[in-house]
Amino acid sequence: MIIAPSLLAANFAQLKKETVRVQRSGADWLHLDVMDGQFVPNISFGPAVVKAVRPFTNLMFDVHLMCGQPEVLLEPFVKAGADRLTVHVELDTQVIPLIWKIRSLGREVGLAINPPTAMQAVEPYLHQIDSLLVMTVNPGFGGQEFITETLPKIQQAAAWRREKNLRYHIVVDGGINFKTAAECAHAGADVFVAGTGLFGQKSLKGAVKKMRHLTEKAASATLL
Ligand code: DX5
Ligand code: ZN
Repeated sequence: MIIAPSLLAANFAQLKKETVRVQRSGADWLHLDVMDGQFVPNISFGPAVVKAVRPFTNLMFDVHLMCGQPEVLLEPFVKAGADRLTVHVELDTQVIPLIWKIRSLGREVGLAINPPTAMQAVEPYLHQIDSLLVMTVNPGFGGQEFITETLPKIQQAAAWRREKNLRYHIVVDGGINFKTAAECAHAGADVFVAGTGLFGQKSLKGAVKKMRHLTEKAASATLL
């Protein structure tokens, strides 16, 4: 199981300290939410912030681009230290060129899908991606409540992965706490992005450990 704290829920006045805290927490990836004020009604941070925190951790940087024109941002984020770039399937005809561009920059490819978008939209790209990020809230803000209706999408993603013999990660993002992480693990998810659900706990290290334990337990219950 991969636990990926989202920097969006960190204290922005202390980004160095917060990054070091994530590094020491035993987490696997750092999730970086980029919002452009157009694709979603909020603005977060850009490549300069990613570059500023990069020296303080060797965790894999998973950059989630909630942006209407991600093509202009790919190179700057790669230069800033992104390892994986996740773009949204709602961008439709732009998806194929975006996947190409990310690959040509030598980085891993993630594809994200919003709650109202049907899973058929991602099916054509499954063999070209490293992760499928199933949004479990409508993107734009941290701290929202998990949308239970997204669970069948996770099951579908897991069924396709089995049937098509593919290896993409199934990432869940939005409203992930100890309870919803376990539900998602049971449905087939293996990467858990959590902002409020982890940073809101007293000990980040303890919270990462607990989420890992609960998701592993829920996933093995699925297999029995
Ligand atoms: C939502 C972002 C999430 C966000 C999750 O727009 O994509 O990654 O940080 O925040 P929580 O875990 O607080 O719902
Ligand atoms: Zn995200």
